[in-house]
Amino acid sequence: MNKKENYEVAVVGATGAVGRRMLSTLEERDFPVAGLTALASARSAGQTLQYQGRSIEVRQLSEDSFRGIDIALFSAGGAVSRQYAPIAVESGCVVIDNSSAWRMEKGVPLIVPEVNPDALGDKLEIIANPNCSTVQMVVALKPIQDRYRIRRVVVSTYQSVSGSGQKAIKELEQQSRAVLDGKPIEKKKVYPHQIAFNCLPHIDVFLDNGYSKEEMKMVNETRKILGDESIEVSPTTVRVPVFYSHSEAVYVETEQPMTAEEIKKLLSEFPGVRVVDVPEKNEYPLAVEATGKGEVVVGRIRKDLTRENAINFWVVSDNLLKGAALNTVQIAELLIRRVSS
Ligand code: A2P
Repeated sequence: MNKKENYEVAVVGATGAVGRRMLSTLEERDFPVAGLTALASARSAGQTLQYQGRSIEVRQLSEDSFRGIDIALFSAGGAVSRQYAPIAVESGCVVIDNSSAWRMEKGVPLIVPEVNPDALGDKLEIIANPNCSTVQMVVALKPIQDRYRIRRVVVSTYQSVSGSGQKAIKELEQQSRAVLDGKPIEKKKVYPHQIAFNCLPHIDVFLDNGYSKEEMKMVNETRKILGDESIEVSPTTVRVPVFYSHSEAVYVETEQPMTAEEIKKLLSEFPGVRVVDVPEKNEYPLAVEATGKGEVVVGRIRKDLTRENAINFWVVSDNLLKGAALNTVQIAELLIRRVSS
């Protein structure tokens, strides 16, 4: 991709929960867009979406969709990315992919701009955006890794339904209404069990080792992004009846000794992080407050009671923004800075 004043940008999956945030994030951050192409399935071809006060028509994704496009932001699921990202690259386009299809592929950079911008490298073809629960965790881990070196992480997630897309948001709405009205729950479509007023220790499919694919994403992607295969990650990922923003309880064991105060200071100075940690005033990170903002919010920072070099904290972020659309657009910003330098 060559340096330009403004770039032709396509959003694949533009009608989805993340795709819509990609459009608004490009707009809010004033990304230099020459033209915006909104792509989705045949189901939504002809629908319109708003971009910079204009209506843009959604087009059906096809092999010809990428002609003349400089940057394609993908968020239409792994199967679409697997099939169309190479076609987009063949058409001369740089792909920034929000699916899990390419993340662990050798040679594909997996980027969180505040954490590992240098991993972008020179082969600008497919760039992967990490899993939403991993993004917010590694942003909080990075300054700790740099100063104290992380040995082990134990994480439990409390993930919102928007991570499963528009249909899941509707499912939680409908089920919640039905339960409150004392009516039977309609057929479950997205989740195998009732999600309203319930917690499901099940995100993505289960693997042979007894962990879910979401849990293994947290293990493998954390190591790849932090560039340290020795970090042990023990995850439990849980879907909770929250619409937007993921929360995580994180235990971190380090090689070097540290105090809670030092960690608080370190995190509050790290780009993209906000520390909210005044428990005596009921101030700590909350999903409803993180929603719609790009920050990674950390609080409840405290020394572990059972191990010397260990700490616990609570980290919350909008999974559709820093966990997806915002991180993707930040990668695009990094990319255009790279081609401009
Ligand atoms: P569509 O709205 O036409 O189904 P979400 O994560 O919210 O479910 O959104 C998924 C996004 O991916 C939507 O924009 C959806 O389009 C798009 N999508 C799903 N399958 C395909 C496909 N086969 N080709 C193109 N876009 C797809």
